[in-house]
Amino acid sequence: MRKRDLAQVMAIEQEVFPEPWSRKVFVSELAQRRGREYRVGKVARAVVGYFGLMLVEDEAHVSTIAVASSFQHQGIATLFMLESVRLARENGVKRVTLEVAVSNERAMSLYRRFGFAPVGVRKGYYQATGEDAYLMVVEGVDTPAYATRMAGIIGELRSAK
Ligand SMILES: CC(C)(COP(=O)(O)OP(=O)(O)OC[C@H]1O[C@@H](n2cnc3c(N)ncnc32)[C@H](O)[C@@H]1OP(=O)(O)O)[C@@H](O)C(=O)NCCC(=O)NCCS
Repeated sequence: MRKRDLAQVMAIEQEVFPEPWSRKVFVSELAQRRGREYRVGKVARAVVGYFGLMLVEDEAHVSTIAVASSFQHQGIATLFMLESVRLARENGVKRVTLEVAVSNERAMSLYRRFGFAPVGVRKGYYQATGEDAYLMVVEGVDTPAYATRMAGIIGELRSAK
């Protein structure tokens, strides 16, 4: 993700999130020289989605993940999650965390596929809606067993084509 992508990123952000990040937040995240990985997915040069990772020592946090509604249900977020855990492994990460709204069944089923499980509730995490969030965690992303899980997901994506 580059500053020049932000107009398209903001359009998706405002389309899909009830509590969108401001452009300022993205600019500040992109300005961090260490410990951040923000990527966009493009189709025919247009941004169709993006994700962000914060990396601190052996832990990574998925700070955001979104796909434009007209490009959803095609496996793009699954590719983003594959890339997130690949980047996490490349950076020596053992554990990946994220927050998800308790009503966001689709996102949760995506995360469960990657081994995430809820470990706690953050009460009223989303200010705009007052909704609670689950804190979800997957441990052992650095292990051979996790590489096997990733290979399984890649295989399923290929056979679904
Ligand atoms: C959540 C979101 C990122 C998903 O994006 P997407 O590109 O549509 O996701 P994918 O196509 O990779 O879909 C995940 C699919 O994998 C499915 N899936 C989960 N586990 C699976 C498994 N073991 N085998 C096969 N499919 C599986 C999910 O049910 C979902 O299927 P669906 O398309 O029929 O709904 C997107 O809906 C979005 O941007 N939502 C708004 C923003 C948001 O909520 N972000 C998450 C904040 S925590």
